[in-house]
Amino acid sequence: MDTFSGVTSSHVFPRLFTFPTVVIFPPLVLSLIYRFALWALTPRALPGIPHYPVRPFGDIGRIIKHVKETGFRTTWFNVVSKELGPIAQVMLGPWNKSIVLSDIQEIEDILLRRAKEFDRSDDMVNRFHGFLPHGQIALKTDAEFKVHRRFLTPAMTQKYLSAMTPGMSWNARELYRFWDSKRGYLNNEAFDPTNDFELSITDTLSELTFGQSFGLIAEQRTYAGEKAAELKAKGVKIAPADIVGPSSELHESNNMLLKYAGLTINSLTPRLTHFLHSIRPSYRHAKSYVWKFLESKITEARVKAQTASVEDANCVVDLIAGLEKQDGLKDVKMPMEEFTDELFTYMIGGTETTAVALRWVVKLLAAHPDVQRRLHDELISAGIPSALDEDAPLTTFADVSSDKTPYLEAIANEVLRFCKLANITTREALCDTVILGHPIPKGTTVFFTITGTSFSETHRAKEIHASLDPVRSKTSIRRFRYWGDDAEKFVPERWIDAEGKFDGRAGPNLAFSTGPRGCYGQKLAMLDLKLYLAILGATFFLDKIPKSLDGWDINEGLTLSPKQSYVVLKRWSEVA
Ligand code: HEM
Repeated sequence: MDTFSGVTSSHVFPRLFTFPTVVIFPPLVLSLIYRFALWALTPRALPGIPHYPVRPFGDIGRIIKHVKETGFRTTWFNVVSKELGPIAQVMLGPWNKSIVLSDIQEIEDILLRRAKEFDRSDDMVNRFHGFLPHGQIALKTDAEFKVHRRFLTPAMTQKYLSAMTPGMSWNARELYRFWDSKRGYLNNEAFDPTNDFELSITDTLSELTFGQSFGLIAEQRTYAGEKAAELKAKGVKIAPADIVGPSSELHESNNMLLKYAGLTINSLTPRLTHFLHSIRPSYRHAKSYVWKFLESKITEARVKAQTASVEDANCVVDLIAGLEKQDGLKDVKMPMEEFTDELFTYMIGGTETTAVALRWVVKLLAAHPDVQRRLHDELISAGIPSALDEDAPLTTFADVSSDKTPYLEAIANEVLRFCKLANITTREALCDTVILGHPIPKGTTVFFTITGTSFSETHRAKEIHASLDPVRSKTSIRRFRYWGDDAEKFVPERWIDAEGKFDGRAGPNLAFSTGPRGCYGQKLAMLDLKLYLAILGATFFLDKIPKSLDGWDINEGLTLSPKQSYVVLKRWSEVA
């Protein structure tokens, strides 16, 4: 017999194993725990804002289903706005408070004029922080962000960009010269320009960032020429894949990091996804390779800045190193880890976005020969030469200004309006506030559906927007120009006024978002896009694509991109 302090087990157990303790209490306790867990895991809806029926874990199940069915994350927010209206709430977990706002007038107002109430959200920070902890996109508008902007703003001034334009034009010209030989090797067959656009834009951005193009297109051109000659000698028909050469380790490493970044950004658990990537040897190798390169460029630039004037800086790294030595910023330096993150942000911010925009350009132009003809006529009148004209001067900043080439400007804007490059952006409420008459508590994440035509602009939606006037914020009530019933179509003419001039305020376009935390690289992206488009339009006519290569499905990576964007090129002299 066991004894404990003189109490025997036969005294204790009979009292514990009574009918209620064995049969009733355990299920009751389990049921209470279950109910409590359900209660704790079920989000509380904000009163008065439309939402789906509330379930434990909120809308997580719905978003997972959408991702499984469509392969996309961000388009779920478009579905929400279609089903629930211009302001809706979604619950991305048991304790999450999020709003989806798709009323373009209110979106523009919040992004542009209510920066004191709304800042970069934790949602966005989580998506970029692991990868680029000191890149401006992952920073709240804090002291570090403000210092970075002081160093980076000069790289987006008109003066600086105009000085950089000839180099950018040169890279675009090199690409189209390569394409001219390529179409010869391929007997005018269709080819996929994705890799070439990425390489060429990387050349342009490397020139802008480090003062020297990586020369990736030149490498491809040499490879393709040699390979084509070899295959021709053997009498083998050349396929597009035969003439794609290997790339440098730096570029491959960059690409690998971009691929991982895309996966993290679209993950439902970005911090965890980043952690899992960051322990992979391939990620660690790529990051260390690229970061060593960045550090070496920064060290070189700082040495150069000891003797050179900042006025002579011809690339971003020299510009920042020069500014570190200038009077106004003398005591402010960019620590190495911040400098490297910002350089990489500059490089990747502009690579995929611009290359994907160019893929949409060729796709949309091939589908609209009338637009190509009108553009070509404008370019010829403006004196913009073909890339194949050996003696022609390089295209300048002034050549692609909206005054000189309004239709070019219209196409660039229409491409960005039409395709959903960056579909969503977010902000977080810094205080208790109000959106469209609804109280929004501090800490709420607001998802804005900023691109595509769904937010929309069609006649029906116009009535919805008008019905919101009584509840709009004071700053958002003003004359606002919406697009007409053709908003779902690609029509560059919508940007041209009665006098034939480009009208940037013809209707809404938030492809770059807007306001103090809108796209930092907007001016550079527009310049790049217009230069590549102008030199392309002056050089080639984009012919009809075989049906099997002309699908309109999209992929989601860092941006939404077309799955297929093939080109069939003709010189203008060959066009009937
Ligand atoms: C067609 C090309 C591009 C598109 C459509 C695009 C679009 C966007 C969008 C929608 C945002 C989010 C803004 C927000 O949250 O309000 C953004 C942010 C940003 N973009 Fe771009 N972008 C493009 C090109 C570029 C280029 C060329 C660069 C740099 C060279 C760049 C650098 C950045 C940076 C650094 C941010 C973060 C800004 C901040 O946090 O304040 N982007 N971009």
